[in-house]
Amino acid sequence: MNNEYAISVNNVEKTYRSRDGQSNTVLKGLDFHVKPGQFVSIVGQSGSGKTTLLKTISGLQEPTEGEILVKGRPIRDGIEDIAMVFQSPVLLPWRNNLDNVLLPLEFRGVRTDESQRYAHELLEMVGLGGKAKHYSYELSGGMQQRVAICRALVSHPELLLMDEPFGALDAMTRDSMNFEIQRIWKATGCSVLFVTHSISEAVWLGDRVVVVGGRPGRIVADIAIDLPRPRGKEHRFSAAFSDYAAEIESHIGVVTGIS
Ligand SMILES: Nc1ncnc2c1ncn2[C@@H]1O[C@H](COP(=O)(O)OP(=O)(O)OP(=O)(O)O)[C@@H](O)[C@H]1O
Ligand SMILES: [Mg+2]
Repeated sequence: MNNEYAISVNNVEKTYRSRDGQSNTVLKGLDFHVKPGQFVSIVGQSGSGKTTLLKTISGLQEPTEGEILVKGRPIRDGIEDIAMVFQSPVLLPWRNNLDNVLLPLEFRGVRTDESQRYAHELLEMVGLGGKAKHYSYELSGGMQQRVAICRALVSHPELLLMDEPFGALDAMTRDSMNFEIQRIWKATGCSVLFVTHSISEAVWLGDRVVVVGGRPGRIVADIAIDLPRPRGKEHRFSAAFSDYAAEIESHIGVVTGIS
């Protein structure tokens, strides 16, 4: 068994069946592997199956065919190594920020003094050390999303799945979150699968950009992004950056402009 990869997606198919018996194959023959510590951006047209892919990898739903391995183990054994961040932070309004971060550990019955310290550390790391006892309604959208990221990281996941995590943020907050996420990723060493509609965000953040397309969805391109790190804004104006963006756009198959 190959446990050289943080995650292996082997020939995965996902078919949804409706109540009236209709079936819709959304993903087919999907095969890819992520090395430990790699940052993989995923782009593709709306409806191409990106969320379906992340939900299947997270164990929220089963593949119809194929298998997903976490460090060479079946996903049900590795489920605690995976955490997910959604577009909306979904914080519980009656819990303060620290207690929201600690929620996954409470569910597992493992909230300890040590985990409490780590939750504080994470909030410090994202610049919210002073907001631990505040409530989500007292935070901006970007701050709330940072709390949601801390909640995902608190259980020390080896794989972080992010589904358009910054899609609801304004452009400036999104830029600063892009810096932040690079820092967090480096500090924690986890692997990341990052779904985005923004080609420039995908290139800026990714070691690789995987393009999902076609019906049913499959991987139409898997492009290594060979830009130096850490990546600052200046990289977004380089010729190499534009070349990557244009290449990815051509695989997505629509004229979108670079957003
Ligand atoms: N639970 C479900 N039951 C039935 N069909 C579903 C379900 N979830 C998604 N689908 C269908 O699967 C297809 C892919 O949906 P998915 O949400 O994975 O796309 P996506 O690439 O994430 O799109 P977007 O970019 O708009 O978020 C769509 O046709 C959608 O209608
Ligand atoms: Mg989606």
